[in-house]
Amino acid sequence: METAAGAVPPIAARAPEVDEREFRRTMGRFCTGVTVVTALDEEPVGFTCQSFTSLSLDPPLVMVSSSNRGRSLPRIVRAGSFGSNILSARQEAIGRRFATSRPDKFAGVSWQASPVTGTPRINGALAWIDSVVRDVIPGGDHTILIGQVVAVHHTPDAGEPLLFFDGEFCDLAAGQPGRGR
Ligand SMILES: Cc1cc2nc3c(=O)[nH]c(=O)nc-3n(C[C@H](O)[C@H](O)[C@H](O)COP(=O)(O)O)c2cc1C
Repeated sequence: METAAGAVPPIAARAPEVDEREFRRTMGRFCTGVTVVTALDEEPVGFTCQSFTSLSLDPPLVMVSSSNRGRSLPRIVRAGSFGSNILSARQEAIGRRFATSRPDKFAGVSWQASPVTGTPRINGALAWIDSVVRDVIPGGDHTILIGQVVAVHHTPDAGEPLLFFDGEFCDLAAGQPGRGR
């Protein structure tokens, strides 16, 4: 494949194997923020997602990676747009709730529909990023969604970010940096 950076070498036929558990534990050392990725597919859907990042400034693109087993994934693709809600440290309960497959994840959660895409914006989040689905790319047992950003909003005084490190939610400001292993 030819890219702006040149030709991409073919994937080695016999890549060395990496133990899955060790891979997970190692990647857990990468501290991230926490988002809830949402869509409106007749009803609000969403899942907790740490694999969210900005991808391009011009055009403005973001990307998220969703497990192929996730129930929200096909519904987000069908909806054609998704919202990325960057959680505050005060929203750990929401981060935990949306990390389950329970059908009533939005029950009791305060949200409003984006005026641009209709995607749920969870109140109290540090920021909202509304995107339309631009590309859906296979990535092993996950699927990469690339979204073209159509609206953004951030609340300057919404507080500290919720973090995830070493398999645990943590709040560095409160001196809880995970398990420290
Ligand atoms: C902090 C945290 C980050 C997560 N990040 C991701 C992620 O990036 N991609 C993913 O597919 N699942 C991620 N998950 C797991 C999903 O939230 C979980 O599988 C959820 O049940 C999926 O919901 P759904 O099946 O309704 O889509 C994460 C979970 C937690 C607690």
